[in-house]
Amino acid sequence: MNLKDIIAEIPDFPKKGILFRDISPVLRDPAALSLVVDELAKVIHPSEVDVFAGIESRGFPLACALALRYNKGMIMIRKQGKLPGVTHKVSYNIEYGTAVMEIQANALKKGQKVYICDDLLATGGTAKAAAKLVEKVGGQVSGFVFIIELTDLKGSKAIKDYKYNALVKY
Ligand code: PRP
Ligand code: HPA
Repeated sequence: MNLKDIIAEIPDFPKKGILFRDISPVLRDPAALSLVVDELAKVIHPSEVDVFAGIESRGFPLACALALRYNKGMIMIRKQGKLPGVTHKVSYNIEYGTAVMEIQANALKKGQKVYICDDLLATGGTAKAAAKLVEKVGGQVSGFVFIIELTDLKGSKAIKDYKYNALVKY
């Protein structure tokens, strides 16, 4: 099975000129979803992880599937205004301007090892912001996993201080 055959390509989404790589067909195909989890489990040693972190929104199912595989829990890193209780915030660059992501202040115990999960690495701004949030609340980032990397956007540079893996590169 080749994930590239299953990932959908949607032209002109979210705006004209962008070819959107959509993992929805991977999530709804049990064999493809198992393949993703099996392949990512090859690069994450159990000793490297106490908890998985999912980046909103398509990082959530990936983090949850891996958490179940490793018998661990998962935490959510969300866009501003979505998480209840005390939160920490980090702003990061998006295509036009900046955005803010948050984590719950009590999400982690000091020194917990975290693997951060998302569907796709583009510029890396989102991933780097997620790492900052994990560190702000006392976590230690062991690495990142993605299903897709858009290599032209050089996101690996933004997270060069961390280990990362992506299953499919365009
Ligand atoms: C997309 C994608 C990553 C991020 C990658 O999410 O799912 O989280 O962009 O971009 P970057 O590497 O350039 O930072 P999006 O912001 O569209 O949010 P969504 O998943 O909530 O739709
Ligand atoms: N798919 C999902 N998220 C994205 C993409 C994409 O093609 N490009 C930037 N973020």
